[in-house]
Amino acid sequence: MIEPIMQVENVTRRFGSNVTEVVAVHDVSLRILPGEVVLIMGPSGSGKTTLLSMLGGLLRPSNGRIQIGKDDLTQLDESRLPDVRLRHIGFIFQDFNLLSALSCLDNVALVGQLNGMTRKEARLRAQDLLEQLGLAHRLRFLPEKLSGGEKQRVAGMSP
Ligand SMILES: Nc1ncnc2c1ncn2[C@@H]1O[C@H](COP(=O)(O)OP(=O)(O)OP(=O)(O)O)[C@@H](O)[C@H]1O
Ligand SMILES: [Mg+2]
Repeated sequence: MIEPIMQVENVTRRFGSNVTEVVAVHDVSLRILPGEVVLIMGPSGSGKTTLLSMLGGLLRPSNGRIQIGKDDLTQLDESRLPDVRLRHIGFIFQDFNLLSALSCLDNVALVGQLNGMTRKEARLRAQDLLEQLGLAHRLRFLPEKLSGGEKQRVAGMSP
């Protein structure tokens, strides 16, 4: 049997309390298999961003479990979450969140360095990835000089 890479069980997230309480996500369960592409759709305010923030280890559920590989995100100490995000999660934020002072190459190489590669190894790997994405001619550019689609591709390879 193929092991899921992510298992979500009965996840609920509330904000506020008493009269101002909002149940942003109510009792969501799902499994994601390796290589699977999952789209989350729903009207504005239906809880998509709240759910994604929890799946990415940026926000804790009020109830339920989120398992990534062997790690149960909901049991892990707050201080362990950055490491889980580094190893398992890639976010492409709507406004990209690239580091504006670093070139495209260095934005991407930073992930490898945080993962223990030397600067040289990380830059070679970053160059390879960016070349595969058709950005060989933009390696030394700062993010502000890129088009929206180019920024999106760099962000997809960055922390
Ligand atoms: N930090 C917060 N404090 C209080 N309520 C919140 C908070 N974040 C989200 N909510 C509420 O939770 C509900 C879900 O919000 P969420 O941002 O997850 O929706 P969404 O599906 O991403 O919407 P959109 O399509 O507009 O981006 C909304 O009613 C919102 O007002
Ligand atoms: Mg949203």
